[in-house]
Amino acid sequence: MALLIPFVLAAYVLLYAFAFTIPPLPPISNFLSVGHAQQAQKPLQDTLDAWLEREERIALDKLLANVAPGGRNVKDAAPGSVIASPSREHPNYFYQWVRDAAITTSTLVDLYAEDASSSLSSQLSAILNDYSNLQSALQHTNNPSGTFGDLSGLGEPKFEADGSPFVGSWGRPQRDGPALRAITLMAYLRAYNTSHPSLWASDSGEDWFKPLYDPSLPAHSIIKADLEYVSHFWNQSSFDLWEEVDGFHFFTAIVQLRAMREGADLALAFEDGGAADWYSQQAQRLERFVHGFWDERKGHLVETLFSSRTGLDCGLLLGSLHGYPSASSHTPVYAPYSDELLVSLLALVQDQRTRFPINAAPSSEEDDNAMEGVGLGRYPEDVYDGYGTDKRGGNPWFLCTASAAQVLYITAEHLVTTSNLTISSTGLPFYEALMSSSSLEPQSDTTYGPSDAVFHSVIERLKSAGDEFMEVIKTHTDAEGSLSEQFDRVTGYERGAKDLTWSYGAFLQAVRARKRIL
Ligand code: NOJ
Ligand code: NOJ
Repeated sequence: MALLIPFVLAAYVLLYAFAFTIPPLPPISNFLSVGHAQQAQKPLQDTLDAWLEREERIALDKLLANVAPGGRNVKDAAPGSVIASPSREHPNYFYQWVRDAAITTSTLVDLYAEDASSSLSSQLSAILNDYSNLQSALQHTNNPSGTFGDLSGLGEPKFEADGSPFVGSWGRPQRDGPALRAITLMAYLRAYNTSHPSLWASDSGEDWFKPLYDPSLPAHSIIKADLEYVSHFWNQSSFDLWEEVDGFHFFTAIVQLRAMREGADLALAFEDGGAADWYSQQAQRLERFVHGFWDERKGHLVETLFSSRTGLDCGLLLGSLHGYPSASSHTPVYAPYSDELLVSLLALVQDQRTRFPINAAPSSEEDDNAMEGVGLGRYPEDVYDGYGTDKRGGNPWFLCTASAAQVLYITAEHLVTTSNLTISSTGLPFYEALMSSSSLEPQSDTTYGPSDAVFHSVIERLKSAGDEFMEVIKTHTDAEGSLSEQFDRVTGYERGAKDLTWSYGAFLQAVRARKRIL
């Protein structure tokens, strides 16, 4: 019951917000000090710190420009929509993808949770409420993946900006979307509850939480419907996050696992005991399933089971980051700092370094096996060049490069918090590559702590390697601070959908992780 009260109160407030018209938002520029004069030139000698500080403001401004209501690029979109990019042709990304929207909105929830009393947060809270309402409407929209009746329609990956179904042919269904959306909305519920402690005293009736979680009527509650979808469909194949391969994918499975674990906690808080048991059972099955993505022979995780691809994929980094549990009561599976994830990152980096000419190191003494910052693309076999197919191969992506930095910063943070660096034979190749230019050699089957030099230099090196990835982003960001989807593997210039919302979100998350260890 103790747990129930906060959730009921949070939901009470949410419904309250739904029930009243939200006043028009003040322009975003009120909250951000980005002037056009500032954006116009890019000082060449900028330090990384100075650049990150400025780019952080620009990225938030440009991210919010793609979010309705209020965003300058989405004046005609339904309130609550998050478009993937304002680009309407070459390529047309003026749609709302369930995945991109949930991931972007989770960044907004984090910003909201940081300081719920700020003026930015009142703007965000209006966006978050509209997002919830619109997602509920999308759940109930018949679409080419199916309907709400049997929940099949929840696997639809993208909708038009006005909320109507997208009826063209596409890689569907994609089963990561409902899991990501549930994770985002559960985080919002927790954040809202934390920021409104005074509401504990108010008189809330049982009905208030129903729009988000109604034990008996999933048809009327967004989170419950998504949890039901995940629990019943995770064991069926679907298209991957890159919308190309039908199969079973690490990214999809690990975010489904997180949704089921957190969903079981939420169900318990709402005294929805049967559902809590059912979600926990699915979580246990998913946990075993996710372990199956470790390929002992290859020595790294693989993104898709039974695939002819190498399996090295930026989806591994993204899955680990988005699947990382928010409550310490859940033992993370393949956390960003896990040996399995770190050696997978190393293998991906080693592949991409030689694949893209812009990654060639200027020095001749370069060590090919070193763990150093490079421009990272989606996966080795990629041929999508941002506009169409290029048989010669793909390009580095901002969101993948930022994710590598975020993984390294989180690993540094984890070592600082636990005061423990245990190097196993699995993780050894990563730590050797990370420390390849140092005289200190990390040893396998050894535990290091704050009294060991190795412990401190590993942490320092994790930060500096993370910064190298951020330097790559800085190098390829244009003078306006805009981030598109990709940057050219030969010229380094931006390409693909311009102002990709997800690029800004991934950048902001990496910056936030960096700040926590400064
Ligand atoms: C092909 C790309 O590989 C895929 O990831 C993308 O979603 C679609 N084209 C649409 O842009
Ligand atoms: C293509 C990417 O492959 C996919 O992951 C994304 O959802 C869409 N573009 C929209 O950004």
